[in-house]
Amino acid sequence: MTPDLRTFLGECDAAGLLDRVARPTAPGGELARRLAEAGERTVWFERVVGHRVPVVAGVCASRAALARALDTTPPRLVHTVAAAIDGARPWRSTLDAPFRAHVVRRPDLGRVVPVVEFYPSQRRRYLTGTIVVARRPGGVNLSFHRMMLLGGNRLAVRIVPRHLHALLAEQEGRAEVAVVCGVHPAVEIAASVSGDPALDELRVAAALLRGRLACTDLDGFAVPAHAELVLRGRFTGALADEGPFVDLTGTADGVRRQPVLVVDRLYHRDDWLYRTILPGGAEHKALMGIPQEPRILRIVANAVPGVAGVALTPGGCSWLHAVVAIRVRADGDGRNAGLAALAAHPSLKRVVVVDDDIDPADAQAVEWAVATRCRPDRDLFVIPHARGSSLDPSRDPETETTAKWIVDATIPFGRPRGEFLRVQPDEPARKPVPRGTRPRTPRRPR
Ligand SMILES: Cc1cc2nc3c(=O)[nH]c(=O)nc-3n(C[C@H](O)[C@H](O)[C@H](O)COP(=O)(O)O)c2cc1C
Repeated sequence: MTPDLRTFLGECDAAGLLDRVARPTAPGGELARRLAEAGERTVWFERVVGHRVPVVAGVCASRAALARALDTTPPRLVHTVAAAIDGARPWRSTLDAPFRAHVVRRPDLGRVVPVVEFYPSQRRRYLTGTIVVARRPGGVNLSFHRMMLLGGNRLAVRIVPRHLHALLAEQEGRAEVAVVCGVHPAVEIAASVSGDPALDELRVAAALLRGRLACTDLDGFAVPAHAELVLRGRFTGALADEGPFVDLTGTADGVRRQPVLVVDRLYHRDDWLYRTILPGGAEHKALMGIPQEPRILRIVANAVPGVAGVALTPGGCSWLHAVVAIRVRADGDGRNAGLAALAAHPSLKRVVVVDDDIDPADAQAVEWAVATRCRPDRDLFVIPHARGSSLDPSRDPETETTAKWIVDATIPFGRPRGEFLRVQPDEPARKPVPRGTRPRTPRRPR
């Protein structure tokens, strides 16, 4: 069977990880509140007021969910995605595309699709589970973009200056695209990976699914054949106000002029599901942050040989704060790892470097390492006036700069490792080292 969103939801249901909401739910604050309460669980709203289409969210809301979707473990996730980027492979071509079952021309999007008004105080309805498929020489580019309902068949699409932005700029803002919504998590993860412009994210998805991804040709666009919803449209070169939108930080992003997408055709499967993502929720963070980790891992590995793991942490919006775990081989490795991580992900504001006995995704363990291994007079480094993330409300609004910091919470170099390891309950007794006979601690260079 071809893996798709439905089959994955069936697996979640069988594993007891899916909450079904049977009572009618309003596609506004009520639906958003329920999703916020669900945290990392998957929610299926069976009845949405004013619509006949069920809504699903929270599909990829945790490291564990993503690992399950890719048939790996949470600690192996970063390595699995890194291997798929390196081993991108062809997808299977098919004429059997269930999304072609229904087509609506010039759709009134707000009526056909249960577009959610997540934060009624902001008074905006957004599609958030939408992946743009754009043609580029030799393949396609996939990336998630939020889409604000303008009315009728028009959407304002937020496009930060990355690959889609560059493709549009080359065509003076006018480009035909396809948009897919409701696909297997592997396709969503691949669409969230930021790599080389030549990287074909559909091929990364095919590698994550071990070649089982089936795509079909839609007017010259390769699209996942089992998507729940597909839009065909064009950027016209027109701009419209987009926002305010509650972003990853949970704070409201400003209003900007953004490209308008006109939707000419909407396709959907029989008994289709509408897939959405709560802005600023656990799922938004997991899908934004986790696919960035392979790039950070690779760049840190270039600077320090023994990199064990990387996590962009939910408390740091899965975008601004990271933890890197390394095996220290030489004095100064911790600092170098921190510098490399900051360079690898320019939005990063803080990086904590820990030893490889600490799971970087375990917030308690990381804080324990900071508490027991780090001395701020010696192990804290602040880099002033560096370019930060546009999402960080604390940045300088005029210069867009911020300060960055590295917290080196690795075991002080030269000190016996055993003094810093957690003693396990079933550990055999060790001979105590009498006081005064311990080796002297070498001073760390400042
Ligand atoms: C849920 C989610 C929503 C996103 N929303 C946007 C968005 O509105 N605009 C945008 O430019 N990028 C958005 N992104 C980030 C891009 O999709 C992501 O950085 C992608 O890797 C960019 O692709 P590229 O490397 O091909 O340019 C979002 C990512 C996720 C996971």
